[in-house]
Amino acid sequence: MAEATRAPLPEDKAQRYAALRAEIAAVIAGEPSRIARYASAASLLAQAFPDRFFWTGFYLVDEAKRNELVVGPYQGTLGCLRIPFGKGVCGAAAQACATIIVPDVHAFPGHIACDSRSNSEIVTPVFDRSGVLAAVLDVDSTQFNAFDETDQAGLEAICADLLTLD
Ligand code: SME
Repeated sequence: MAEATRAPLPEDKAQRYAALRAEIAAVIAGEPSRIARYASAASLLAQAFPDRFFWTGFYLVDEAKRNELVVGPYQGTLGCLRIPFGKGVCGAAAQACATIIVPDVHAFPGHIACDSRSNSEIVTPVFDRSGVLAAVLDVDSTQFNAFDETDQAGLEAICADLLTLD
C-alpha cells in the first residue's frame, strides 16, 4: 500500500531513478490495470523531479486505430487529447519505437505545443509483454536541455517494468 510520507530519494540522479524504479515496482506489484500502473508511475515520477518535470504522463496507443495516440494518466497542465503517429515528439517516438530527447522543442519539426512553457522533452516507448508498443511516456520541462542519457536510462528502465512485471 502506498504511503503519503515516503523515504527521501537520493540526490544523485541515477540513484534517484534506481530508488524510484524500485518504489514504482513495489506500488504496482500485483495490480493488473494498465491505467492504475501508469497513473502511479506518473505521480511518483512527477514528485521525484518537481523542478525539472513540468508535464509527466502517458499517451496510449489507440487500440482500434493503432496509428494514433490518445492521452492517458498524467500530471501537469492540460495535454492534447490525440496525437497521430509521426506527429510531434510523441508521434515520432511511437513511430520509431525508440526514445527521443529534444533539447529545444521549438527547433523540432512538427512539435506539438500543448503548453507554450515547455522547452525540452523526452519521450520513451512502453512495450507490452509481447514487445508491442502500448504507450509512450512523455516528460516535458520548462528548462532547455533538461534531459540526458541518465534520464533516458532511468525512464527506459521504469517503462520496461510497467507492463512486464508480475
Ligand atoms: N509536446 C508533445 C505533445 C504532448 S504534450 O507536450 C503534453 C509532442 O510534440 O509530442
